[in-house]
Amino acid sequence: MSIRNAVIPVAGLGTRLLPATKSQPKEMLPVGKKPIVQYIVEELHRCGLERVLFVTGRGKSSIEDHFDDDPDLIRTLRETGKEDLLQELEYERLGVHFLYTRQRRQRGLGDAVLCAEHFTGTEPFVVALGDSIIGRHKPSPIVKRLMDAFEKHDADCAIAVEQVPLSQVSMYGVVKPASNDDVFEITDLVEKPRREEAPSNWAIAGRYVFAPGIFDAIKRTSFDHRNELQLTDAIRLTLREGKKIVGVRLPAEEKRYDIGNFESYFETFVEFALTDPEFGPQLRKHVKELFGENL
Ligand code: UTP
Repeated sequence: MSIRNAVIPVAGLGTRLLPATKSQPKEMLPVGKKPIVQYIVEELHRCGLERVLFVTGRGKSSIEDHFDDDPDLIRTLRETGKEDLLQELEYERLGVHFLYTRQRRQRGLGDAVLCAEHFTGTEPFVVALGDSIIGRHKPSPIVKRLMDAFEKHDADCAIAVEQVPLSQVSMYGVVKPASNDDVFEITDLVEKPRREEAPSNWAIAGRYVFAPGIFDAIKRTSFDHRNELQLTDAIRLTLREGKKIVGVRLPAEEKRYDIGNFESYFETFVEFALTDPEFGPQLRKHVKELFGENL
């Protein structure tokens, strides 16, 4: 069965980005010209996903507004001779069908995914984290490759992974690959391991495909020490019960940009802005003038 549903969890509190996220979702912070979540919807659309469920929470309604038609804005642009700006709203016409549900209490990513159960039903589905952009140099087909691997290997779950420095493994879910192939079986995975306990330096990169069995596994997963239901722990449970989990490696040019903390958000914004086809050259000149050799 071809996969047509995607889930984007966007309900997290984004506390690491306070005060920027006090009254606006971190998933709506701009990177270059667009809010982060728009990159993700465009990526999913390119991979053929037709239906997207946002798992939202309190204070996240600007995400719905962003993907909604705005006839008043269009009329104003027309009446004021700014028709050229209409192309900036083209993303509204992608033909993706959006649905929204709410995670009432922020009890972790596993709990957020569980909110999608009645949306996806008995079909396999994609999960794309709302705070991670993949690919700047060229559009990433990683979700398509995940769906292909999921079907070809008759897997219960397929996970995108990327290599990170060992010093950063404690920030991510980390997998143990069974081989050096681009697509491989995962034999173990751990959420935010200490460096000396990490099974490798291949980190989960915010894109997954799941069979519907994941919901039952999440329900049987225990809350962690922070009282959150971790998606990684639910996947690990299914692995221990004999399910097949495959990993798909992200090539370097499809780098993942995690904007969940200020260090990586600033780096991501600067990289996208400096390489913007329209504004990048002038901005690079400006930065050189500002800092010269001191950069
Ligand atoms: P994070 O793990 O970065 O958590 O979420 P967070 O709560 O948003 O951020 P901090 O730790 O407070 O700074 C990864 C993705 O999962 C979603 C987030 O919205 C983000 O897109 N998420 C996380 C949920 O939807 N619900 C949750 O309970 C937690």
